[in-house]
Amino acid sequence: MQTIPRVKGTQDFLNMCLYQFIIDSFSEHCALYHFNRIETPIIEHIELFKRTLGSYTDVVGKEMFIIKSPGDNKDELCLRPEATASTMRAFLESQQLMPWKVFSYGPMFRYERPQKGRYRQFHQINIEIIGAEHVSQDALLIMLLDRYFHEKLKLNSYALQINYLGSYEDRKKYTQLLKTFVDGVDGICDTCIIRKEKNTVRIFDCKNETCQKLYEDAPTMIDNLSAESKKEWERLQDELSLLSITFSVNPRLVRGLDYYNKTVFEFSSGQLGAQNAFCGGGRYDRLAQEVGSKKEIPSLGAAIGIERLMLLLEPLIDSLALPQPKPLFVVMPLSEEQNPLALLVADTLHAAQLSSDILLDGDSLKSMMKKANKMGASYALLIGDEEQRNKSILVKNMMTGDQEQIKQIDLVDYLRK
Ligand code: HAM
Repeated sequence: MQTIPRVKGTQDFLNMCLYQFIIDSFSEHCALYHFNRIETPIIEHIELFKRTLGSYTDVVGKEMFIIKSPGDNKDELCLRPEATASTMRAFLESQQLMPWKVFSYGPMFRYERPQKGRYRQFHQINIEIIGAEHVSQDALLIMLLDRYFHEKLKLNSYALQINYLGSYEDRKKYTQLLKTFVDGVDGICDTCIIRKEKNTVRIFDCKNETCQKLYEDAPTMIDNLSAESKKEWERLQDELSLLSITFSVNPRLVRGLDYYNKTVFEFSSGQLGAQNAFCGGGRYDRLAQEVGSKKEIPSLGAAIGIERLMLLLEPLIDSLALPQPKPLFVVMPLSEEQNPLALLVADTLHAAQLSSDILLDGDSLKSMMKKANKMGASYALLIGDEEQRNKSILVKNMMTGDQEQIKQIDLVDYLRK
């Protein structure tokens, strides 16, 4: 029979060192900024995303993993494609003190065409500040992320692009202006024809080069801001400069989800190929209302694509302070009579916080030594008839080959040294 393959667009993580390092280092970093970790379910009502991400976005329109549940359950459930809407739902259901500063991480699901850095099950670290009105909060979030990438992970081959989508009122006026512009150009693609009607600014997200060329002379949002928005936008740039954060303004950066207003940003790297954004986010002041809040709750956040960050970090792995594995001791009973004693020895080592494995399947000494070598053992702990009788262990240094008989009661002290 053939082995059942993994599902297209998914990955097995067979070595979690780098993944765990990212999680641990980000958690540590977040603690400095007073963000707490939360976790929300992987399944949600599909309605949550329809209302918040926008029905005409690729994510909702084409990429949802919908769950068929047993029974005639009228609720349509789905696997979450992102975590912001869930975080807002959790906030509204639990009534937390604002600003609510939280982060979470885990798998997200989008039925996309798989390629390097793009998967159907991928993993994000998600960070949100719910209940945060002032534009300085945007500078704070961008600072947290930039310091993490640059100082904690020592990445320097990335770019930060920012844009400002204006207030909802600005956006309304601008959309009209942009629509008039697009109405006047010929030859836009079918997707852009739909986007023009449903969410005009998203025409800038079109990958079609002809469309991109046609939009070169389009009016930009940042040239059409109200006086108040302009002040905020300038203030954001001033604060980022004050914090020595390198950024560039991309007036065509609009992001793929509909809930954003005001600040949007993306961190990208040329080393990633076509899927070059490894972190993206922005402000979403009205998302709370889409989820059911009576009033606006100004908020902002971002998500880091863990797989893409891993791709960036893999070449730098030697310079990262990855935790070193503890020395490994491999206990080897020479026959099955010694298995009970071997279990007791391993138990004593574990109780002393020493890391040990144990070979219980009755292999020859030669094959056990081979295995221990492959496992990266520092020492082999051999137990035969003689050791059992003498209450001793034969301790063999796997590097030098030196060996010594050690009394069982002295073993822990000996290995600690
Ligand atoms: P997003 O831009 O859709 O934003 O995703 C954020 C990051 O997740 C991307 O920059 C990318 O690194 C990674 N990512 C997205 N899709 C895939 C995929 N198919 N395969 C691998 N990696 C992927 C959001 O999800 C927003 N919820 C971010 C946010 C939080 N905005 C405010 N708060």
